[in-house]
Amino acid sequence: MGKYSNTLKTLRAIALEHGAAEQPDLALMARELGRVVHQSASALTDRLGSLRMRQRGFERWVLAERRKPAISVLVMAWPPNHLTPVHDHAGLWGLEMTLHGALEVQSYARDPQSGDLRLQGRDWLGPGDGTWFEGEPHHAHRCRNLSRHDTALTLHVYGGDLAQYFAYEQTGPAGSWIARPQRSALAGRLRH
Ligand SMILES: [Fe+2]
Repeated sequence: MGKYSNTLKTLRAIALEHGAAEQPDLALMARELGRVVHQSASALTDRLGSLRMRQRGFERWVLAERRKPAISVLVMAWPPNHLTPVHDHAGLWGLEMTLHGALEVQSYARDPQSGDLRLQGRDWLGPGDGTWFEGEPHHAHRCRNLSRHDTALTLHVYGGDLAQYFAYEQTGPAGSWIARPQRSALAGRLRH
């Protein structure tokens, strides 16, 4: 058990250390976190196995929180095929990394005048792969668990508490986009 809990502890420590800067170097944080995930992939999968077996839908677990400077570290469990709406991150900086399984991330830019969203690109994230955003107010994305059978697990580091944000929905294939305020729920706290 010691070795397993150490991996989560190490990820938490890296996130808190690199997140302490006013403008964190997210590429560097991703590289350091990714190295640990690659080295400890099977230990992490074992340690977090209970999250993959719960079958309670999409869940967000807190690994660490700090107020000054503001940072939150979360682990999320993605049921097979789970797809989020297009959503923003309330202007916070953030980093998202796959721990187990594979995620597709579609990135969007939102036009502040018209409110329309434009697809900017797609990334496919396997274990240890990350994507990050520097707190641009008009950045949005949508994520999908690419597996039809397996629960995926991801690590999220945000420059604050992402309790409220907006989800965006298009009224038709060429229709306008509607923004809906969202509140994010927590399943609990992870011991590390
Ligand atoms: Fe997100």
